[in-house]
Amino acid sequence: MTEPPAGVALPRVMGHRGVAALAPENTLAGLREAARLGLSWVEFDVMLTRDAVPVLFHDETLRRTTGRPGRMAETDYAAVKDLDAGAWFHPDFAGTPVPSLEQAVEVLLAEGLRPNVEIKPTPGRDVETVERALALLKALWPAEQPPPLISSFSLMSVAAARTLAPDWPRALIVDGIPAHWRRTLAALGCASFHVQHRRGSAALFREVRAAGYAVACFTVNRERRARTLLERGADCVITDDPTRLGAVWQPPS
Ligand code: G3P
Ligand code: MG
Repeated sequence: MTEPPAGVALPRVMGHRGVAALAPENTLAGLREAARLGLSWVEFDVMLTRDAVPVLFHDETLRRTTGRPGRMAETDYAAVKDLDAGAWFHPDFAGTPVPSLEQAVEVLLAEGLRPNVEIKPTPGRDVETVERALALLKALWPAEQPPPLISSFSLMSVAAARTLAPDWPRALIVDGIPAHWRRTLAALGCASFHVQHRRGSAALFREVRAAGYAVACFTVNRERRARTLLERGADCVITDDPTRLGAVWQPPS
C-alpha cells in the first residue's frame, strides 16, 4: 500500500543557496548568515563529486564559483574540499570551502535551520545523487526534528526520494509549467510545487493549492514581486536576499 504523501508547511520567505546575495552560495558561511538574519528555512543544491560524496554545489562546472577548470562529476572530494568557493564572491570570503552535505547538516542543526535540499544531479546520476544524499541525511537528521524537504527538477530524483524516504516531504521544481503537472505531482507524491516566479499566475496558484499542494516561487529578489506572488496565493518566496523584501520579510509589528 502506498502511504499518503507527507505535507509541508513552508515559510513565507526561504533563503536561496543559503542567502546567495549576502554570502557565497552553497557554503556554510551562507547557511550561518541565513540563520543570523532569522530565516527558518534555507534552500541549497546538492551534487556528487566523482567519488560520490554529496557536496553543496550548483553548476556542473567548477569555474564560476571556484575559478578552477573542470567538472564536479570528474573531481574527487579530496580536491573539491580544498577549492575556494568564496573568493569569487568577495575577498572577505576568500578561503571559504565547498562544504560536504555532512558538514552542512552539522551547521543546520546547530543553527536550527530547516533545509530544502535540492538534488542537483549531473547527467546520469539522478538516482545515485538521491541515494547518497538521503543515506547521509537519514543517518544524521534527528528523528524528532521535522524532516528536510527534498526537491529536484529531475523527475527521476524525486521518484527516488519517494522510494527511499516516503515519509519525507518532496517538491518538484519547474521552470515552465508542464500541462500534466497534476498527474506528475500526484505520481511523485509531492507536498509542494516550486515554480519559476515568472510562471506564477493567480490561476495556477489557485489550482495547485486546490489540488492539495503548497507552492513556492524562485528566485524572488524584489519586494513588490514578492508581495504580488504572495497575494496571488504563493505560500513561499525563495530569495537570495530577504533584506530586500521589506515588509514581506519583516512585517511591521
Ligand atoms: O530550488 C529552487 C531553485 O534553487 C532552483 O533553481 O538553479 O537556483 O537551483 P537553481
Ligand atoms: Mg537550487
